[in-house]
Amino acid sequence: MDRISDLERKYVNEALDNAFATSKNSVFNTRLEKEFAQKFGMKYAIGSSNGTATLHTAVAALGIKPGEEVIAPALTMASSSFGIVMAGVNPVFADSDRETFQISAESIEKCITPKTRAVMTVALYGFCPDYDKILEICKKHGLYLIEDNAEAFGARYKGRLVGTFGDISSFSFQASKHLTTGEGGMLLTDNLELADEARRFGCLGYGSVGATKQKITRNDIQDPAYFRHVSVGFNYRMSELQAACALGQLERSDELVANFKACAKIFDEAVQGQNLLIPEKAPEGCDPSYWTYCCVLNTDNPQKDWYAFRDLFQKNGGDPYYAAWKLSYQEPAFQNIVHAQPGIWQSYEPGLCPNSEYLQLRMIQLKTNYWNLDECKAQAEILHKTIDEFQR
Ligand SMILES: Cc1ncc(COP(=O)(O)O)c(C=O)c1O
Repeated sequence: MDRISDLERKYVNEALDNAFATSKNSVFNTRLEKEFAQKFGMKYAIGSSNGTATLHTAVAALGIKPGEEVIAPALTMASSSFGIVMAGVNPVFADSDRETFQISAESIEKCITPKTRAVMTVALYGFCPDYDKILEICKKHGLYLIEDNAEAFGARYKGRLVGTFGDISSFSFQASKHLTTGEGGMLLTDNLELADEARRFGCLGYGSVGATKQKITRNDIQDPAYFRHVSVGFNYRMSELQAACALGQLERSDELVANFKACAKIFDEAVQGQNLLIPEKAPEGCDPSYWTYCCVLNTDNPQKDWYAFRDLFQKNGGDPYYAAWKLSYQEPAFQNIVHAQPGIWQSYEPGLCPNSEYLQLRMIQLKTNYWNLDECKAQAEILHKTIDEFQR
């Protein structure tokens, strides 16, 4: 299967033919947003330059203020909490479940303070958290739910697509994601006011744009009496070229997601009947879309064994695979924030999120974006052989 097909090429060429003329400069953005919202049965989709910008936008659009707090997992790409910090808001890091690797509802509850305004879940590695429990907590404490689904397009929870649970939900179209346009992002919400705010925030604070209106009209901007900016906004707009490619990917999304899942199934079979690599477990009701195939290396000495297993796998012909990111609070960026941003009460010291720290040292993330499944099968055989050899 092709990662990028003739359909994306056709749309990108059409966008080029439109030559970015003012009258045609949101043709593909409009189509993409409409079809994306329809796919999820949601009212509003708002395109963005990337999936970090969307998270920043989401926190800002919810009106969460400096000094207030949003709870997010520590085990995720730093963009999740960057989105919070970029809005001047304090992140509070919650721990993950040791078996599902997802943000744990119990840990979220322990992080709540009078300043908490929202929970940001991350549907990690194409799996998803226990939304039932998390939504119950949000309801009980009057908190918003922001979903970061950069890695989970096409995953489902109890039959419903991930992205339909939160007040606002974010996706990324960066190169490794299920759908890609190189760089890109999308927000989804059913709330008109929130959609209006999000659009304005990412579109330079123009007063006349909104949930489904991406551009200011020419008549308005040509009028010397016209005030354009009702607030200070960022320029997080998606380009027509990005939108054209993303539209093609969206229309092919079923086959693209099916390919990620097919790769995962092949790895699933390769790790049966052994205890060295423990694959990520889906929470009850979760039908994952497998952004990657994640396992924990079951060892007491991860510092040595992670590298030894990786080296043996590659010596046997295995493709390089990823580790987990450092936990967000372990990164220098966040260690420095402790001193720079007032009101942060967590220590950011070792032991803050013990399960996440355990998982981070042991994580093995195998690629699931083989567009030729025979290549994936060959990798799975190498994995099987490496597991055998490593245990001898
Ligand atoms: C969980 C998560 N959130 C946010 C992002 C940021 O998305 P982008 O790279 O489009 O900014 C990523 C990955 O790139 C991610 O994996």
